[in-house]
Amino acid sequence: MKKTMLLLAFLLIAPTLQASEDFEAEGIIKYRKAVMTAIKGHNLAIKQVVSGKFPNHGQISYHVNALGDLFSELDSLFPDGSDFGKTNAKSEIWDEPEKFSKTVQKSRQAFQTFKAAAASGDLKTTGKALKAFGKGSCGLCHKTYKKKPKK
Ligand code: HEC
Repeated sequence: MKKTMLLLAFLLIAPTLQASEDFEAEGIIKYRKAVMTAIKGHNLAIKQVVSGKFPNHGQISYHVNALGDLFSELDSLFPDGSDFGKTNAKSEIWDEPEKFSKTVQKSRQAFQTFKAAAASGDLKTTGKALKAFGKGSCGLCHKTYKKKPKK
């Protein structure tokens, strides 16, 4: 009898456990995409400033700082279990975590190089470095770890 009760309790609880995990993964994936969108926003804003099409009042530095903060969170955006659902992240991130971690490191190095160039205050230098940063971080990681979203 006791066993039946336990089994019954388990059967009742199991689906809710599953559901809460799905719920968590969905939240993480949405958050991850929001952070990526924020990264894109700062990137585009810097691109706009270096175009020289409007007066630069020192906006670049705070966008660079924000990018630095967002980049420091890159690893924590891909916890176990967040590989299924409405995501364009490829399973290689979780299958080969060490390789992925190296890509994160390289992306951060590319950011540091860009940050140093931006600190020069020269728009041309910053613009050139921004392109290299796009290739060496966003491009590098997306090429291997991001699926093309379905239109
Ligand atoms: C270390 C890896 C990595 C780096 C570096 C990286 N991304 Fe991503 N990015 C991803 C992955 C993986 C996804 C897919 C996320 C998902 O669908 O869950 C993504 C998704 C995105 C998206 C789509 C978000 C959405 O709503 O679906 C944008 C935009 C984006 N990245 C912009 C950038 C830009 C701009 C940079 C560089 C300044 C950058 N990313 C750097 C891995 C990276």
